[in-house]
Amino acid sequence: MKARDLLPTDLFADRTVFVTGGSSGINFAIADTFAELGAAVAICGRNQERLDDATQRLQLHGGRAIGHAADVRDLDAMTAAFERTEAELGVCSVVICGAAGNFLAPAEKLSTNGFRAVMDIDLLGTFHTARAAFDQLQRTRGVLLAISAAQAELPFAHQAHVAAAKAGIDMLVRSLALEWGAHGIRCNLIVPGPIDGTEGMRRLTELVDRPTWEAMVPLGRFGTTDDVASLAAFLASPLAEYVTGARITVDGGQGLTGSSLFNRAVTGQA
Ligand code: COA
Ligand code: NAP
Repeated sequence: MKARDLLPTDLFADRTVFVTGGSSGINFAIADTFAELGAAVAICGRNQERLDDATQRLQLHGGRAIGHAADVRDLDAMTAAFERTEAELGVCSVVICGAAGNFLAPAEKLSTNGFRAVMDIDLLGTFHTARAAFDQLQRTRGVLLAISAAQAELPFAHQAHVAAAKAGIDMLVRSLALEWGAHGIRCNLIVPGPIDGTEGMRRLTELVDRPTWEAMVPLGRFGTTDDVASLAAFLASPLAEYVTGARITVDGGQGLTGSSLFNRAVTGQA
C-alpha cells in the first residue's frame, strides 16, 4: 500500500522536506512519498550521479526536487546544503536523517577506521544534520525523523559498530525531542525491520539467508520501502502532532523475536 492511495496528494504542499541518504533504498522511498504527497524535496548523499538520477525520478511527480552532494560527516557541507535548499525550495519543515553505513565485521577485527566510519556517518551525521537544520526547523516548528535499527536495542553478531552508532542516535534524538519541544520541533525515531531490495539487507543477507530472516519476523515477510515511508508520512503529518521522543518500529514484529537465529548463522555457533 502506498501512502498516496490513502492520504491527500496535497498533504505536504507548500512544505519542503530534506532527506539525507535520499538517493537510494528506504530514504529514496521516503523522499518519493513526500514528493507524491506534494512536497518539494531535497536529498543529499556523496554521489552526485546517483543524486541526479534520483532527483529526476522525484520530479516525475510534478513538484520541485534538488539533489545536493554533501557528506553528513562535514557540518559545513550540511549547512551549505540546507542554505541552498531554503534558497531554491523554501524553508525546511521536515528533515529525515537516513544516511548510514553498514557491513558485517567481528568486533575483534574491526579497525579504528572501520568503527569510526560507521559512528561518523550514522551518529555524527545525524547530529550534523539536526544541527544544520535547527534554524529552519525552529522557524517552521518542524519535524525531525531519524532512522534507527533493531541493533540499537539488541546485540546482533558482527554489528558492534552499528549497535553503538544506532543506540547513540536513539539517545541523541530523544535528547533533541526534550530540548527542542520548547521550539515546537518534534523529533522521532523510525526503526525498520528487514526491508526488501535494499543495500542494507543485501549486506545482512550475505551470511544469513532469506528464510532465516523470514523466520525472525512474526508477520512472516520482509518489509517494503513503502512500509517505512508510510510511517514517515504519518509522523510528519498533523495526525502525529502530539508525538515526540517516540521510537516506532516498522518491522513486522522482528524486534520481538531476538537475534539468536541471526547470530547462529553469522558465527556458525549453536
Ligand atoms: N569489514 C571490515 N572493515 C571494513 C569493511 C568490512 N566489510 N568495509 C570497510 N571497512 C573499513 C575499511 O577497511 C576502513 O578501515 P581501514 O582504514 O582501517 O582499512 C574503514 O572501514 C573505512 O572504510 P572506507 O571505505 O574508507 O569508508 P567510507 O567512508 O568510504 O565508506 C562504509 C563507509 C565502509 C560504511 C561503506 O560501506 C559505505 O559507504 N556504505 C554506504 C552504504 C551502506 O552501507 N548501506 C547500508 C546502510 S545500512
Ligand atoms: P542505502 O540505500 O545504502 O542508504 C544509505 C544512504 O546513505 C545511501 O544513499 C548513501 O549514499 C548515503 N550515505 C552513506 N554515507 C553517507 C555520507 N557520509 N554522507 C551522506 N550520505 C551518505 O541503505 P538502506 O538499506 O536503504 O538504509 C537506509 C537507512 O535505513 C539507514 O539508516 C539504515 O541504517 C536503515 N535501516 C535499514 C534497514 C534495511 O533493512 N535495509 C533496516 C534497519 C535500518 P552515497 O553512498 O551516495 O553517499
